[in-house]
Amino acid sequence: MKKIIIAIDGYSSCGKSTLANQLAKKLNYIFIDSGAMYRAITLYFLRNHIDWNKPNEVIKALPNIHLDFEYDTEKNQSHILLNEEDVSVLARDMLVSENVSAVSTIREVREFAVFQQQQMGKKKGIVMDGRDIGTTVFPNAALKIFVTADIAVRVERRFKEMAEKGMIASIEEVQNNLEMRDYIDSNREFSPLRKAEDARTLDNSLMTREEQLELALEWANKIINK
Ligand code: DC
Repeated sequence: MKKIIIAIDGYSSCGKSTLANQLAKKLNYIFIDSGAMYRAITLYFLRNHIDWNKPNEVIKALPNIHLDFEYDTEKNQSHILLNEEDVSVLARDMLVSENVSAVSTIREVREFAVFQQQQMGKKKGIVMDGRDIGTTVFPNAALKIFVTADIAVRVERRFKEMAEKGMIASIEEVQNNLEMRDYIDSNREFSPLRKAEDARTLDNSLMTREEQLELALEWANKIINK
């Protein structure tokens, strides 16, 4: 059967990774959460006191960062490995969330991540979510989905997700972080977050996970079976 690349972009916490993961599972494709890569790089910089405003420090640090993904088939979860350490939980920490958008504006960081993402897509059969997947990483992806949801819905979802994981933050902190990241991600110089011209919009404010999956699957199957 024909294998395609599916690019899913959108604002922070609007359910992109959930959709990408479910879609990949249904299609038997590989799921890649590109945001986890930027988060792991940010964690490395924070831990090793790399001043990311100094290009020479960034250039020296990047070759020491090895990123990999591992899929837990029992829990249906993708884990990001930073130099072989599973940092999936640490990478979602508030301190990382507060700094990841700034780190993601750096050209060298983007080139480093985008190169690896493009290698992962060489065999197709991949669903990748992020901010610039349909515009920069895979501009020729067969299916591009731009996910959106109301800010209040996104704040509530992120707050619940953090609370379930025992991570402490107030509603205000969560909202401020989402708004700040949306602003930086949309206004940065290199590959800012924007909807690709040929992307389909999926507003899931009033949709359940099952409904959004059904719609995306319908779009994907139409292309795969054409
Ligand atoms: O998807 P996420 O919230 O885990 O992503 C974290 C940050 O990483 C996001 O605020 C911006 C950055 N990012 C990016 O610049 N490009 C991507 N393709 C994915 C994420």
